[in-house]
Amino acid sequence: MQLQDILYSQGFGTRRICAGLIQQGYVQVDLGNGLVDCDDPLQEVDVHEGLAYSVQGVLWPYHAKAYVLLHKPAGYECSHKPSAWPSLYTLLPPALRQRPQKSAVQGVQAVGRLDQDTTGMLVLTDDGPLIHRMSSPRHHVPKVYEVTTDDPLDAKQVQRLLDGVVLDDSPKPVRAAACEAVAEHHLRLTLTEGKYHQVKRMLAAVGNKVVGLHRSQIGAMPLPEDLKPGQWRWISDEEMALLTGK
Ligand code: URA
Repeated sequence: MQLQDILYSQGFGTRRICAGLIQQGYVQVDLGNGLVDCDDPLQEVDVHEGLAYSVQGVLWPYHAKAYVLLHKPAGYECSHKPSAWPSLYTLLPPALRQRPQKSAVQGVQAVGRLDQDTTGMLVLTDDGPLIHRMSSPRHHVPKVYEVTTDDPLDAKQVQRLLDGVVLDDSPKPVRAAACEAVAEHHLRLTLTEGKYHQVKRMLAAVGNKVVGLHRSQIGAMPLPEDLKPGQWRWISDEEMALLTGK
């Protein structure tokens, strides 16, 4: 693949912009013996997952599809057009937001949404079929939430969450796949579906109130401790298998 096409596919702008970056000497690529300067946009490169190249001194591994993990801080909306708070997408580098897509929306998209005030684990990708699969109600990926409650928890509330509560948009009761009071005001709740404000509405249905919400695990993968709020990183194949159960 030509070097300018590689950069284009990875979100560095139009082919013209990518050609300009290369001609101006901002790009290095590993042609087999480590990173070397390359100022020819038409340079043929043997492209493969993880191919190392750098743009303006920043190392970027080549990924045909982008799969990234973000530790969402509070105060960000999971929307490209937020209404009151900054968009979560501003936490990502422009290249991840600009990766060309066939659809109208460019770049990686969040798999499901977290509320503005919720913190924790979020997967983003430009793999449309994966977003569809992981968001589908039939794909029961368990998600673990650490819930801080306003009122002290009691055994009755925990049992009702396990038995199922009726929310106003669904005649069928929704139940927690697992639910444990870790402390007086700390509930660990596992859900396998993702209805709008589900945790907050479930807690309200049992007469309590959520005052803090953090997603600590998706599938079999916990949020890595070294990924601090606002930070992102690439997801490895092994982690992907833990996340999706495949
Ligand atoms: N449930 C909620 O109520 N909010 C979230 O952000 C996620 C799950």
